[in-house]
Amino acid sequence: MEENTIVKKRMLSGIQPSGDLHLGNYLGAIKNWADRVNDYECFYFMADLHTITVRQEPAELRKRTVNQLAQYIACGLDPEKNTLFLQSHVPAHSQLGWVLNCYTQFGELSRMTQFKDKSSKHKDNINAGLFTYPVLMAADILLYQPDFVPVGEDQKQHVEICRDIAQRFNSIYGDVFKIPEPMIAENGARIYGLNTPGDKMSKSIPEGCVFLMDRPEDIARKFKRAVTDSDTENCVRYDKVEKPGVANLMDIYRTVTGNSIEEIEREFDGKGYGVFKPAVAEAVIEHLRPIREEAERLMKDKAYLDSVYKDGAERASYVANKTLRKVYKKVGFYQL
Ligand code: TRP
Repeated sequence: MEENTIVKKRMLSGIQPSGDLHLGNYLGAIKNWADRVNDYECFYFMADLHTITVRQEPAELRKRTVNQLAQYIACGLDPEKNTLFLQSHVPAHSQLGWVLNCYTQFGELSRMTQFKDKSSKHKDNINAGLFTYPVLMAADILLYQPDFVPVGEDQKQHVEICRDIAQRFNSIYGDVFKIPEPMIAENGARIYGLNTPGDKMSKSIPEGCVFLMDRPEDIARKFKRAVTDSDTENCVRYDKVEKPGVANLMDIYRTVTGNSIEEIEREFDGKGYGVFKPAVAEAVIEHLRPIREEAERLMKDKAYLDSVYKDGAERASYVANKTLRKVYKKVGFYQL
């Protein structure tokens, strides 16, 4: 026995290349991803196959797919330590997806909340891909035999159907798939829109949303217009119910500076929002500056980004194809 070999648990997650990353994505999740490699073997991929279940502008999708990779790397996701790849570069996803389609019931897909939501939003394009979206996602996951699948609350139902499909398949053919656990609790901050403190920060409300690639002057302007509170107390005090806008700014400041809420209250004691808001803006600008500069540098280095995707696809394919071969054999496909 080699004593020093620690076998790390494996985790895998998919990300839609759906647009520029923002402060909510970063402080809420991505900021903590770099450290995951200490405890896990990590696989992340851009889910471009999933993205076309909603109509896309091809040139835009292509651009976002590389730019978003640059932004993730700039946020600290090291391609040497993590396997980063593009879903469409690993054909095994589509291949296993087809097989699993034949082990998934129409009824269970009809009950998925995301399908119901998206098909009511895009009534002119209720395509079969939208319907079988969870099956492809199950294939994404099961190919890699991960222990954990970190996802947002909205994707939990998809991990559950993945487990159901895997269990069903295993009950017929023996232990082919590891049954993965969803990993929901992130110890990240929950960040709200700067002008809509009741709603999560979202790119659909760009004025209250700080993008990682925003220029400093834009960040400053967005914070200047941030909602504080309706009363005239003008006091930096943490009260999520009475002063959600102020509490949100304090959470942002706390996360980027590492200071506690008490320290922040003390720092701005008697100073009011006129001092507080620019201070938060400044802290965010300085925190994001190296990330933006690194992302900008990487976005210009297409050869490097291509090499990351190429390398990632090779590493991912090796793992994925092993599972796919096993599945093909189990279901009775004739092997050469
Ligand atoms: N459906 C996920 C989302 O929209 C993205 C995704 C695709 C995914 N395949 C996955 C997440 C596999 C985790 C595991 O966020």
